[in-house]
Amino acid sequence: MDRSSEIGVVGLAVMGQNLALNFARNGFRVCVYNRTPERTEAFLRDRVRGEPIVPAYTIEEFARCLERPRRILLMVQAGPAVDQVIEALLPHLEPGDLVMDGGNSHYADTERRMQWLADRGIRFLGVGISGGEKGALLGPSIMPGGSPEAYAMVEAMLTRIAAQSEEGPCCAYMGRGGAGHYVKMVHNAIEYAFMQGIAEVYDFMKTALGMPTEAIAETFERWNEGTLNAFLTELAARVLRYRDPETGDPLVERILDKAEQKGTGRWAAQSALELGVPTPTLTVAVLARTLSHFKADRERIGAAFPWPDRRTPSSPEAALSDLEAALNLVVLAAFSQGLWLLHEASRAYRYGTDRAEVLRVWRAGCIIRARWLGFLREVVREDPEDPHLLFSARFRAELQARLSAAGRILREAFEAGVPMPALSTAADYVLSMRRSQLPANLIQAQRDAFGAHTYERLDRPGVFHTEWLD
Ligand code: ATR
Repeated sequence: MDRSSEIGVVGLAVMGQNLALNFARNGFRVCVYNRTPERTEAFLRDRVRGEPIVPAYTIEEFARCLERPRRILLMVQAGPAVDQVIEALLPHLEPGDLVMDGGNSHYADTERRMQWLADRGIRFLGVGISGGEKGALLGPSIMPGGSPEAYAMVEAMLTRIAAQSEEGPCCAYMGRGGAGHYVKMVHNAIEYAFMQGIAEVYDFMKTALGMPTEAIAETFERWNEGTLNAFLTELAARVLRYRDPETGDPLVERILDKAEQKGTGRWAAQSALELGVPTPTLTVAVLARTLSHFKADRERIGAAFPWPDRRTPSSPEAALSDLEAALNLVVLAAFSQGLWLLHEASRAYRYGTDRAEVLRVWRAGCIIRARWLGFLREVVREDPEDPHLLFSARFRAELQARLSAAGRILREAFEAGVPMPALSTAADYVLSMRRSQLPANLIQAQRDAFGAHTYERLDRPGVFHTEWLD
């Protein structure tokens, strides 16, 4: 079996197992290795059924098993584990070999590792992979970044195992350096915002409209037939329909309302702040998860802070139609902010990311796959150099058609005590970006008044300072 495997997979947690099976079922010979041998044995025993997969029980054996130049996919826990595995592999690799990191690594770590390996003549790709367990097995969305030469070594394999959409395989070169992991991070930030938007309209239906869970599920099902057609819309309906076998109640109503996160959404918000790109809806989705954790505090404050918490709007049918428009607005704002962030990151870090390709890769396989993606790709292609989707008349028209409905929902939500941070920021984002004049002049004047920070004028060039308080 020496030198006969076309791809090596390190790390046999669920994602690693499913990707190994996906490669093998597409005809590629795979060698697998896991730090703990029992996991490898269990994988072969329980899941491998004649697919061309061979195990290696030491790193040496693993390295021997692979065709030269080697192609290795790491599917280990993001963080120090990636460095440890690379350390262990290094003595057994040769110049020209390729290592890919398919985990959710931070893009800065990816760039560091790329440099580290480049110094030894070894190629490295940071590969964002989305689609969850099922996607990994049946066709994920794959976002590889690094050198074009490194990508060329695996392009055929990755495009083969990726999800396929009418616009082609959901795998494309995302750009240089840490671009692959950066794009995946932005994907996750949009995912957070989309989920937050879904959670908010669910809360509105439950609290302001008093709808039972079944009816809410039905509403998401109906929306999934229209512009909101998306994996996450469908998933919301399915999850809401699921009944707890023990109690017979919708299981979702029995789940503790504290949302967890693994960090990619927070990294996106941090990167946006560092780059000076406003991504309010993406950021607030992270904050809303954080805030949800203060359950005991919320209970204590809520008990002492009366507010209606329930009020049926004059027309529930009209409210539902407005709500659908509002969720569309959240989704469009989230994509708009994410794509602006990608534009600026690509410029700052010289990724050379083609955002039309990013949208194509997100078309199927990944968690944020949605009907809107085809339209968004057309918008980006109108002028790929435009940072803003908002420069497109077609995109603005879609927002304009929904902004009033969002406003009506926000007013009703306020009356009913339903917080809708994703929707408010989405609406604010649109209102702010369409204002040629913002009140930042007063902020500048105050800064100059208390700290002599100076200001510029509208009516003539130059930098000015005034003794305001004399
Ligand atoms: P999950 O949460 O689904 O288990 P994960 O934590 O992202 O997935 O990844 C776990 C994988 O990373 C496992 O294959 C694990 O190997 P073990 O089965 O031996 O635990 C691997 N992993 C974690 N830390 C590692 C390390 N320092 N060196 C090598 N492999 C490591």
